[in-house]
Amino acid sequence: MLNLVVLSGAGISAESGLKTFRDAGGLWEGHDVMQVASPEGWAANPQLVLEFYNQRRRAALEAMPNLGHTVLAQLEEDFEVTVITQNVDELHERAGSSKVVHLHGKLSEARSSVDESLIYPLEGKDIQWGDLCDKGSQLRPNIVWFGEMVPMIEVAARITEKADIFIVVGTSMAVYPAASLIDFVRHDVPVYVVDPSTPMIRHNPNITFIRDKATTGLKTVAKELREKFH
Ligand code: APR
Repeated sequence: MLNLVVLSGAGISAESGLKTFRDAGGLWEGHDVMQVASPEGWAANPQLVLEFYNQRRRAALEAMPNLGHTVLAQLEEDFEVTVITQNVDELHERAGSSKVVHLHGKLSEARSSVDESLIYPLEGKDIQWGDLCDKGSQLRPNIVWFGEMVPMIEVAARITEKADIFIVVGTSMAVYPAASLIDFVRHDVPVYVVDPSTPMIRHNPNITFIRDKATTGLKTVAKELREKFH
């Protein structure tokens, strides 16, 4: 089976009711992103950051996967699919995708604020101020914030190099190193970009832009892939 690799971003979850980042005009639910998604923001006001992510977690749990997520899960019948996502919501898994790499962490996990290897499943619970890790430090969301290393980027780059087909869906390609994954795609590989606007990707002869929402746009791509490659 051909390797189909997908790079997804907030746009794929938009039709599930979860807001994207850049469509909100630089504010994220009324907050400056650096206030709620950076080590500096955490140092300045950890309670605000905890509450912010507790709300994001509740919203993600209430949301349902949409047809875009489902189409990608169903492509596993015909392709070896790996989804590399910048999303922290896990709607890909809930739609049935079996191989999902999370570049920016998961809302469903907490981690130690002194040892990033100490990770705890939250099982839908909030993180409270005063919840401690086994080393006695405050728990924080297991989310990669602006200015932090992206531990899964190497794994994602190795997967991307092996892609026979590459899909980019619902990401502005404005955030690095995630956006740099496109540079690891082999030159002969067809790339499909599904997004109502135009993400920051260099044109090349193998790119097809599908200026559509994830739900309908991914259906179009899936039909074409099955016709061409199956
Ligand atoms: N279907 C597909 N794409 C959509 C839809 C939709 N229904 N609605 C919006 N989009 C597109 C927008 O046009 C935009 O290109 O989704 C993209 C969302 O871009 P961003 O908000 O920048 O989200 P993303 O690229 O995932 O952000 C990357 O930035 O804030 C950080 O860590 C956070 O993972 C996030 C990273």
